[in-house]
Amino acid sequence: VTPAPVGGRGRCGALVPAAGRGERLGRGDPKALRLAGGVPLLVHAVRTLASAPSVDVVVVAAPVGRVEDVRALLADVQGAQVDVVEGGAERQDSVRLALAALPADVDVVLVHDAARALAPVALIEAVAAAVRAGTEAVVPGIAVADTLKQVDADGTVVATVDRSSLRAIQTPQGFRRSVLADLHANAKPTDEPLTDDAGLAEAAGIHVLVMSGSDEAFKVTRPIDLLLAETVLAQRDSGSA
Ligand code: C5P
Repeated sequence: VTPAPVGGRGRCGALVPAAGRGERLGRGDPKALRLAGGVPLLVHAVRTLASAPSVDVVVVAAPVGRVEDVRALLADVQGAQVDVVEGGAERQDSVRLALAALPADVDVVLVHDAARALAPVALIEAVAAAVRAGTEAVVPGIAVADTLKQVDADGTVVATVDRSSLRAIQTPQGFRRSVLADLHANAKPTDEPLTDDAGLAEAAGIHVLVMSGSDEAFKVTRPIDLLLAETVLAQRDSGSA
């Protein structure tokens, strides 16, 4: 059964898990507070979400002990209400805590990694529109460029995976609020924490739609990603991107 569209009246909230330490970036501040173009990654992400016409409220899950710092950093963000809560031990915990702080009248939820700081407004709008049109769960994805091989514990190749059917999945991921709330309420602790929210939906048998992602929604993970972010920002500043 295709669910009824949410329609134009429902409000849209964006949850921003930003509580990760970012160890792959090397020593320093939590990843969301690292700078690109002189501005913390989290501030880039929240400014863009708040400026998206669809987004009414943004709830950030801040690194433990940094709630007040993050509130101050986001104090002058325009375009949407911004709230900050303390994040949790795993990404899934951070999303659950942010979800609990969403106003009751929000019925479209986007979950967006602070680390995907440069995801463009057009992508945010496309994901929100898909949920408003009745999709229960939608994620952006892009084709995989590398050849992918499955390896065993010794590093020996087990198989080469056919990459044509694979997608690298990004955020924002969009959900009907009731769906995401049920998923998080019923999630059982697992040995391997999930790396995205669609994983919970798949495990529960919910149809997850993959839509076209954006190269600019890359996740800042390694030091070289910060260089890429600086370049994208410089290009945007010069008006050529
Ligand atoms: O570590 P990874 O890059 O997969 O994290 C994805 C996003 O989840 C980041 O924005 C990170 O700050 C966030 N996160 C979180 N709480 C955690 C771990 C990660 O909010 N405990």
